[in-house]
Amino acid sequence: MTMKLAVIGLGHWGHRLIPKFLVHPRVDGLYCHDVDASRRAMISKEFPEVIVASDYASVLANPEVDAVFVATPVATHYDLAKKALEHGKHVLVEKPLTNSVRDAQALVELAATRKLTLMVDHITIYHGAVRKIKDLIDSQSVGDIIYIDAVRVNLGIFQCDVNVVWDLAIHEFAIIDYLLGEMPRAVTCVGAAHYGELEEAAYVTLFFGQGVIAHIHVSWLSPVKTRRLILGCTRKMLLFDDTSPSEKLMLFDRGVGRSPDADVDGPAITYRDGATEAVSYDTTEPLFTVIDAFLRSIHEKQEPLANGESGLRMVRILEAASKSLKQQGVRIPLD
Ligand SMILES: NC(=O)c1ccc[n+]([C@@H]2O[C@H](COP(=O)([O-])OP(=O)(O)OC[C@H]3O[C@@H](n4cnc5c(N)ncnc54)[C@H](O)[C@@H]3O)[C@@H](O)[C@H]2O)c1
Repeated sequence: MTMKLAVIGLGHWGHRLIPKFLVHPRVDGLYCHDVDASRRAMISKEFPEVIVASDYASVLANPEVDAVFVATPVATHYDLAKKALEHGKHVLVEKPLTNSVRDAQALVELAATRKLTLMVDHITIYHGAVRKIKDLIDSQSVGDIIYIDAVRVNLGIFQCDVNVVWDLAIHEFAIIDYLLGEMPRAVTCVGAAHYGELEEAAYVTLFFGQGVIAHIHVSWLSPVKTRRLILGCTRKMLLFDDTSPSEKLMLFDRGVGRSPDADVDGPAITYRDGATEAVSYDTTEPLFTVIDAFLRSIHEKQEPLANGESGLRMVRILEAASKSLKQQGVRIPLD
């Protein structure tokens, strides 16, 4: 079954996704809209096959349009997604779902009432390497996760309405949510803003049950681009370095254990320094997988992995992180 979609918001990200929708085998017609006439003109020129609408209402009123992709600034997500759901359209929203828990909750409820698909572009959990890590965890190949250490920094694009935590750390929150399958019990966050009101660099810590801890460093102010995820597990350890030119996912048979010999001096620890191997994974472009998951979930009437509930969970963590940030890193419980 094929569908007709509308892309709302033709900025950096919406523009990037248009060619992906155009070549997708399940898409047989593409509409788009932006409040900015110059963006609409640019898309008309570059992609003549796309039908460009000068107002959102006409897109919503068009019965041919099955689904809407919202790629506008975060503050507008709620209103645009709500209207689309009210007009019977399935919705894929850019991350984060909304800028408040209250609004995210309302969208989840509206989609459920209308029996429509609501999905969030949590693109990182559709990455082949992240899925491979999940397989390794689920198959007990690496043991239990003890800690997660993540860095996502570059000389990044400043967002107009959200800070770097809402813009970048959400990618790591989504990965951690997917891998651990549980909400953090508490959050701390510190950060700094030097060029405006919104923090450009931040350090977030998530605390889970059993002493599991995750630390996330995000920044728009780094001279180098780093996207690195380390998972310390009881049997093996993993490094996913998305900026490495090759061998991005590495599995280390390294770690520590408790020494059985309690009489020796020094810490009762033994070290294991085994082999390191590169792990292969599905290299399908994550954007394609996101679009595919969205269209498939509509067609098969099944919840996507990055459904509205997962979007809501991420906004809950973001709100708690913002609260901590405002109080210079105070630990905020999440229950
Ligand atoms: N998944 C990812 O990796 C990823 C990467 C970049 C951006 N994003 C997300 O994409 C969204 C857009 O980010 P961007 O970098 O493209 O921003 P942008 O500022 O480049 O583009 C936003 C566009 O939305 C338009 N717009 C604003 N309000 C509108 C409205 N009410 N109706 C229609 N159009 C409207 C603007 O005119 C602009 O062209 C954000 O939610 C951001 O978080 C996601």
